[in-house]
Amino acid sequence: MSKVVTPYKDQQAAKKDQVAGMFNNISKTYDFLNHFLSLGIDIIWRKKAINMLKVDKPEKVLDVATGTGDFAFEAIRILKPEKVVGVDISRGMLDIAEEKIRKRNLQQQFEVRMGDSEKLLFEDNSFDAVTSAFGVRNFENLEKGLAEMLRVLRPGGRIVILEFSKPKVFPVKQLYHFYFKYITPFIGRVFSRDSSAYTYLPESVAVFPEGQDFTALMRKVGYQDTKNRILTFGICSIYTGIK
Ligand SMILES: C[S@@+](CC[C@H](N)C(=O)[O-])C[C@H]1O[C@@H](n2cnc3c(N)ncnc32)[C@H](O)[C@@H]1O
Repeated sequence: MSKVVTPYKDQQAAKKDQVAGMFNNISKTYDFLNHFLSLGIDIIWRKKAINMLKVDKPEKVLDVATGTGDFAFEAIRILKPEKVVGVDISRGMLDIAEEKIRKRNLQQQFEVRMGDSEKLLFEDNSFDAVTSAFGVRNFENLEKGLAEMLRVLRPGGRIVILEFSKPKVFPVKQLYHFYFKYITPFIGRVFSRDSSAYTYLPESVAVFPEGQDFTALMRKVGYQDTKNRILTFGICSIYTGIK
């Protein structure tokens, strides 16, 4: 069991409540900072991850921890499913997602709801695919979240998870540490007005299981044929599994 890292060290509230509060605080600047801090590479990561579902041609997709919806919008663009449902515990993030849905006129294809990954309000086997980008690291109980995502996935359906990992090779490892430890919190503080959010980011990545540790956890929960694909020298990873 890895160490529990929470956004606000001086608060007693559960990780889930702190995470929801933090994303409410940063929701308005989240999209801008995402693209700015990743130098736009997050767009490529999302595209690569969603491409892994192309063979399955899923019609009903659940995007867990959908936030402002960018992973789901990419799924709609690439996979053209009948319906994507996005769930998230942050009302602020979902408000931005809803604004984007309206602007893009995607109300028929994409619906967002308040929802907790650890207690999904859907029937068993109800989605052809489940996706989650940069969400699982924030779960209070990772195993429970993964198990719930498996429960609502139909047999034979695929899960695609995109999450930060840590580069291992010189000099990317050193540059990454410097960037994540000093530059990211500084820029985050200036633009988002939540000084904790962008120190929580590197701290939560540091303790999060990655690579084979993560796929082993997926298998423990019940996923089969789990795979791990490393992106951009290991800064990010795509995990897939089948029910
Ligand atoms: C870094 S954002 C990622 C948003 C989006 N998927 C993206 O790719 O930009 C993480 C999101 O996870 C959500 N989240 C954290 N824990 C959650 C949980 N237990 N259930 C649902 N959403 C959760 C947060 O509210 C936040 O919107």
